Amino acid sequence: MRDLFNLKDKTALITGAAGLLGYEHAVALMSVSCNLVLVDINKSKLILAKKKLLNFKKKIKILTYVVDITDEKALNTLVQKLKKNKIFVEILINNAALDPKMNNLEKKSGTVEKYDVKYLREEIDVGLVGAFLCAKVFGNEMSKRKKGIIINIASDLAILAPDQRVYSKTGKISDVLNFKPIGYPIVKAGMLGLNRYLATYWAHKGIRVNCLVPGAVKNKQSKKLLKEIANRVPMSRLARKDEYRGAIIFLSSKASSYMTGQLLIMDGGRSIW
Ligand SMILES: NC(=O)c1ccc[n+]([C@@H]2O[C@H](COP(=O)([O-])OP(=O)(O)OC[C@H]3O[C@@H](n4cnc5c(N)ncnc54)[C@H](O)[C@@H]3O)[C@@H](O)[C@H]2O)c1
Repeated sequence: MRDLFNLKDKTALITGAAGLLGYEHAVALMSVSCNLVLVDINKSKLILAKKKLLNFKKKIKILTYVVDITDEKALNTLVQKLKKNKIFVEILINNAALDPKMNNLEKKSGTVEKYDVKYLREEIDVGLVGAFLCAKVFGNEMSKRKKGIIINIASDLAILAPDQRVYSKTGKISDVLNFKPIGYPIVKAGMLGLNRYLATYWAHKGIRVNCLVPGAVKNKQSKKLLKEIANRVPMSRLARKDEYRGAIIFLSSKASSYMTGQLLIMDGGRSIW
């Protein structure tokens, strides 16, 4: 069984690795002896993430790179740097995305009528174009070596419309002030198209492409928002940030060897209600 999940001598690249879940993906892969290439635009958070990972004292290599994933040239430079050091990315986790926080229920924002298209463009650029570029650059290397794994991180908002009533003080849609903006669900739904396309495009080259569809993670949401969301989840709670670790190991390893183009939905049952 251990062999099924073991990733010793493999290397995984995680985008947005300094963020809440990116770091958790790194912990997961580290626990099965996978070497890590951590990519983020936030240098200080990236340094901190590496420091925390080194505390586990695991015998793996951890490299960090400050790279903007929307910059194709920077990604090509990174791939060449890694190649020079005989490092080949066998697992790519397309995790970076922009997700506007929804804590302020007092302020009117996020309405379709006033949504500035520049935010839509920014979100598409990081969440979709960035994921595409990483797949293009690292998938190209994988296809030459005839093996690889790509994991796209979507969201329950890839398969559901946001229930805006969770952002209402009264629970009524007519009283919502702060709407979840449309950019995020557009990006996450787009991720599913990217997933299907790449899975069929590269299957014969030994590359598997799957999508993790996580539900909301308990972080710094207000009590009221936590309660509203929990009421819509059969398991009556949000996810803990470490609850996707098993899925990342499963999708990255031989344990999922006959799986491609699929969605692994982990949302406490929210999408079946
Ligand atoms: N947190 C949740 O509740 C939740 C739920 C479902 C899905 N997700 C998805 O999980 C993924 C991670 O979410 P998170 O909560 O950890 O987000 P986060 O905001 O904590 O982390 C995102 C990271 O991406 C980095 N980043 C942003 N733009 C970048 C760029 N151009 N190039 C490189 N790095 C860039 C940021 O610096 C940040 O460290 C996202 O795709 C998100 O949509 C999160």
